[in-house]
Amino acid sequence: MINFDYKNPTRIIFGKGTIARTGSVIKEYGGTRVLLHFGGGSVKSNGVYDTVLKSLQAAGIEIVELGGVKPNPRLSLVREGIQICREKKIDFILAVGGGSVIDSAKAIGVGVPYEGDVWDFYAAGKTPKKSLPVATVLTIAAAGSEMSWSSVITNDEGALKRPLDVDVIYPVFSVLDPETTYSLPAYQTGCGIADMFVHVFERYFTAVKNVDLTDRLCEAIMKTIISNAKRVLVNPNDYNARAEIMWAGTLAHNNLVGTGRLGDFASHMIEHELSGFNDVAHGAGLAVIVPNWMKFTYRHDLPRFVQFAVRVFDVEQDFHNPEETALRGIKALRDFYTSIGMPATLSEIGIHEKDFKTIARKVKKFDKEKGTVGNFRPLTEADVEEILTLAK
Ligand code: NZQ
Ligand code: ZN
Repeated sequence: MINFDYKNPTRIIFGKGTIARTGSVIKEYGGTRVLLHFGGGSVKSNGVYDTVLKSLQAAGIEIVELGGVKPNPRLSLVREGIQICREKKIDFILAVGGGSVIDSAKAIGVGVPYEGDVWDFYAAGKTPKKSLPVATVLTIAAAGSEMSWSSVITNDEGALKRPLDVDVIYPVFSVLDPETTYSLPAYQTGCGIADMFVHVFERYFTAVKNVDLTDRLCEAIMKTIISNAKRVLVNPNDYNARAEIMWAGTLAHNNLVGTGRLGDFASHMIEHELSGFNDVAHGAGLAVIVPNWMKFTYRHDLPRFVQFAVRVFDVEQDFHNPEETALRGIKALRDFYTSIGMPATLSEIGIHEKDFKTIARKVKKFDKEKGTVGNFRPLTEADVEEILTLAK
């Protein structure tokens, strides 16, 4: 196990009926004039917006609205939000929605007190020192942004999608009511499940040895996701299954299961460029990339792939042929993704061979000198192109 320094400051308020508390909790944190940030309309049709509004009004909070966040949230709306917050002297941001709305709110939060352009934090290596406080009411179990230190924004010019990871953007609190997710279309439920699974997976595939406890925690979350995914897709209003999926999505990405180990994250970096390229849903892009990343990588650490197959997907271990066991684990993950409605190939999501070189070039590199991405097995641009070719 490697050394770590772990703190996650986000307070979680979880369960049925908890959204009604939002206004009074914002007041606890000193919020008086709130930017109410949301997406394309789902929160209005499923009633979440009304419940939030009533709660804010009951607490006597002034509200300025900014809707219209698109999946793969855009820098242009972030800039607009920053302007509004400055003009209206906003002192608190409430994101009501999924990862896109939350990430947009986090970007606005760090942009308001900064004199330069907020994109500096995403693409020019600048580090924000402060943020307006941000809270969230989550409506889709997926990205884990409700308890993460990340925000991922797409620059409308150049179709570049870039993450910012920094302590000051942890939400101060997040309200998680699983009932809000009943209205999700099956495809969005599937995309969310695909994404949260990969958040654990990226941490599971580590080169660090002696990480038994976090291995087991990762396996527990992945198994919980697999079994409850089936239940929510059969009955979208199954409260207990929705609750398991929602909490799994948060724990998958609040980095508890990443403590003492170094995760990979190459698949995430490759996927960000797919959704930056043609707006594919993040989870759907991951479902295409990850099994092919596995096919490309499994020989690098066969025992870990065997462990994944046996412990996560209950594949029977073939003691005389570990490679076969590992390959069955890869197939089991592919089949799981197909069972939740996820695509299997890049052509299904409108990405073709002629684009592979451009995408591989755009992928954020972890080691600038060597030009590689990922920690488990660092990938060169040529390796990324090969994975894209396997996924075509
Ligand atoms: O815009 P509306 O109308 O609200 O519709 C949304 C959107 O179309 C819809 N939706 C959300 N809740 C709903 C609902 N529809 C019906 N009922 C509900 N209760 O779902 C669609 C997708 O929403 P989005 O917020 O884009 O989904 P998600 O939470 O998967 O977020 C994806 C974004 O998060 C980033 C991704 O890259 C992507 O941009 N990520 C953020 C991370 C982080 N900040 O820690 C980590 C992740 O790895 C990820 O990269
Ligand atoms: Zn993700």
